[in-house]
Amino acid sequence: MEKRTNSPFPAIDRPVMAVVGVVLVIGTGLFMWSDRAHDWRFYQMEFAQLVADQFGADKAAEVPTGMQQIWVADLERADRCTTCHLGVLWKGFEKAEHPYRTHPEAPLKTHPLEKFGCTSCHGGQGWAIDTAAAHGQVAHWEEPLLSRSLGESYTLAGDKNALMQMNCNTCHRYDRETNGATAINLAKRLVTDKGCRACHVINGYGGTIGPDLTEVGDKAPEQYDFSRLSGQRTAFAWHVAHLKDPRALAEGTIMPNFNFTTEQAQALSMLVLSWRRHDVPARYLAGAPRTDPRSAEELAAEEAMKTGPGRWFVDTGCFVCHSVSALGVKSPAQIGPDLSTAVEDTQSRFGLTVDAFLANPTGTMSVVLSRQIILTPEQKQVAVQKLREAFAEHQKQRAAGVTTAPAPSH
Ligand code: HEC
Ligand code: HEC
Ligand code: HEC
Ligand code: HEC
Ligand code: HEC
Repeated sequence: MEKRTNSPFPAIDRPVMAVVGVVLVIGTGLFMWSDRAHDWRFYQMEFAQLVADQFGADKAAEVPTGMQQIWVADLERADRCTTCHLGVLWKGFEKAEHPYRTHPEAPLKTHPLEKFGCTSCHGGQGWAIDTAAAHGQVAHWEEPLLSRSLGESYTLAGDKNALMQMNCNTCHRYDRETNGATAINLAKRLVTDKGCRACHVINGYGGTIGPDLTEVGDKAPEQYDFSRLSGQRTAFAWHVAHLKDPRALAEGTIMPNFNFTTEQAQALSMLVLSWRRHDVPARYLAGAPRTDPRSAEELAAEEAMKTGPGRWFVDTGCFVCHSVSALGVKSPAQIGPDLSTAVEDTQSRFGLTVDAFLANPTGTMSVVLSRQIILTPEQKQVAVQKLREAFAEHQKQRAAGVTTAPAPSH
């Protein structure tokens, strides 16, 4: 008997084709099963039922079905969150469970959904349509939903829902204050009051003693040294610990310990992590001008000091960290001691004349004088002269019963 040879496949390929066929059938089956397991259809049915119960069948017929998507071309976002969160713009479900609940009105009034989508504020994976993936609870997704539950796992001391404010600040970075971003507002006030810019460039200006912080939120997890950190090993936890006690994480750093409370350190960590390079179109950046400038009062105070007897300390930049109260110079940050009595204090603190201290400074001043304010030996002599004048003025005022110099901050 002769074998039939008109089969399109050589005999050897038949088992292969059979396997391929079986795999296809199983694959299709799995696909259909997993598609059924997507719970969004269930949420849509439930929501339609809720609407029917509350407003009648006619209204329920208006509930959209199928996959929903908000496409924001400017932000390159395709957010499908409303596939499940169908109640966002409906009235009457303010008390319903998630994902059916009506959205708080205020944020969407100033940020219409068609322009902002959902993920620009909340984070998460816009295009995903199952809950865990959409909420970004999956490996290698860098923008998890900044939710209340994540805030709880980060043990936030204040508002547990505050993490979202990191996203608010990608657009509101240059605001002095943003309504609704309480933690970020607190942190921005601390940056000004504590004078972080004495040592750090932030948004384009500041000192060069510490690293530029303008894009520090982009640091990858691998770039952090977690070896001295106990507990959670997240960038957030690292910054909280560092802000609370810089020396505990960065040995020998001259960054001062500002004795922040946990709530303050957490707010500052959110602010620091919000400082990222973001490709947000300029019209999405709220607040003008877009330079994070100093306030009119700050500039006026500086101008006034520049015309007074302490002008050298202002022009040279010492006032960024030091007050010289005998000469009417008030430092906004007061990171170092008042220099009115430095002539005396370097003796008692370091056992050095002020000349010797400035010639061979230690601690913070060694970094200041080598990286930020470079003085020639002649200019150092001027500095000594000015410090002596300040001390003489201080003594004169003390003799006259005027107390301008506060006790040194050490
Ligand atoms: C497949 C359905 C589904 C999709 C898609 C979905 N969610 Fe949810 N969402 C839920 C459910 C269910 C809950 C309540 C249970 C939970 O928190 O997991 C919820 C809860 C939430 C909460 C409250 C969380 C908390 O901790 O209090 C927020 C915020 C939220 N979703 C935002 C989003 C955003 C933003 C997207 C789009 C990126 C999205 N969701 C996409 C189903 C979904
Ligand atoms: C402008 C920013 C912004 C946009 C855009 C936005 N939200 Fe919200 N969302 C908020 C704020 C603010 C809250 C209130 C948080 C609070 O109460 O602390 C909130 C609350 C929520 C909650 C309740 C969370 C909770 O913990 O109770 C859900 C769910 C939610 N939003 C989903 C969405 C979805 C889905 C979209 C897109 C259709 C969206 N949001 C768009 C800012 C925004
Ligand atoms: C994608 C960018 C973006 C995000 C994210 C964003 N905003 Fe806005 N926001 C804007 C823009 C743009 C305006 C309009 C500003 C204007 O008209 O000057 C605005 C307006 C506002 C206003 C009204 C300001 C005013 O002066 O009337 C408030 C308050 C506000 N946002 C708070 C928030 C909060 C809180 C969040 C986070 C929950 C947030 N925004 C998230 C871009 C954003
Ligand atoms: C006297 C100078 C000085 C002042 C003032 C100062 N810092 Fe620092 N900061 C440093 C130095 C130096 C480093 C690098 C060593 C280290 O990590 O401590 C640093 C590091 C940091 C880092 C880590 C940067 C990175 O790349 O990981 C952050 C964040 C930071 N500072 C925030 C702040 C904030 C917020 C303030 C104000 C509350 C502040 N600093 C005030 C000197 C200063
Ligand atoms: C970035 C902040 C910063 C700047 C700018 C700065 N200092 Fe200091 N300075 C300090 C700190 C902090 C100390 C306290 C010693 C320490 O912590 O190492 C100090 C200490 C001193 C002391 C010793 C005073 C004492 O009472 O012990 C003198 C003198 C001094 N600085 C002079 C100057 C002069 C002059 C300038 C300007 C040319 C200047 N500093 C600029 C931060 C600064």
